[in-house]
Amino acid sequence: MSAQSAIRRITVSTLRKMKRAGEKIACLTAYDASFAAVLDEAGVDVILVGDSLGMVVQGHDSTVPVKVEDMVYHSRAVASRCRRALLMVDMPFMSYATSQQALDTAARLMQDGHGQMVKLEGDARQVKTVEKLVEHGVPVCAHIGLQPQLINKLGGYRVQGRSEDQARKMIDDALALERAGADLMLLECVVEPLAKAISERLTIPTIGIGASGRCDGQILVLQDILGITPGRAPRFANNFLAEGGSIQRAVEAYVRAVKASEFPGEEHVFES
Ligand code: KIV
Repeated sequence: MSAQSAIRRITVSTLRKMKRAGEKIACLTAYDASFAAVLDEAGVDVILVGDSLGMVVQGHDSTVPVKVEDMVYHSRAVASRCRRALLMVDMPFMSYATSQQALDTAARLMQDGHGQMVKLEGDARQVKTVEKLVEHGVPVCAHIGLQPQLINKLGGYRVQGRSEDQARKMIDDALALERAGADLMLLECVVEPLAKAISERLTIPTIGIGASGRCDGQILVLQDILGITPGRAPRFANNFLAEGGSIQRAVEAYVRAVKASEFPGEEHVFES
């Protein structure tokens, strides 16, 4: 057996087992083949081709201008060097406005982009779309809390779940999306007690970004751990390159810190 075929690929069921075993899931974004190889070899469990590429690769001030074509292009590049990690790809703005459109987009991302799971932003209103995708064999990550694709409605990137009503709604949304068949739940900028409550109520793993160490795993944008965020770095991010000294060591340090529950620290957490 060659060394390559001996690599055990992370699957949706691996992630569920990790949650049950209390093993933290380390996730990062990547947008090209070279970085994908570094992340994969460093033991990142899930690589996300995020629509954050609109900001960190294309230079836009939001994720809204990103097209399906862009996601396919970058996903293909990442897939070429992703051997162990599960490859998740974002459905960009306006590419899942109807269930049929979501199916068409997922087909492009998986067949042409070689993704293994799609991620979509939204609350319980996405239940029908998630059901449709799942019915057709598409693994889905639902992204709740702060939804960057709504920036033109929200007017700013704010912490979510501070009021009781907001918190109750987010728990209901998470449960509805899990019932619809979502395999993973990403929580962005969510206060710690709410992230804890959602993680405890769901059987599927939760992945947090600015959502405290109470989630089953963590994700950050690659540029944020390398200290090259365009503009101001978010409060929940950490520059691992400053400590690691090389890109390889920075990624390894991030994976180690997530697995050991040392990241996120108290300074990265939003209280209610
Ligand atoms: O696009 C992206 O990078 C994301 C992160 C916020 C997780 O969705």
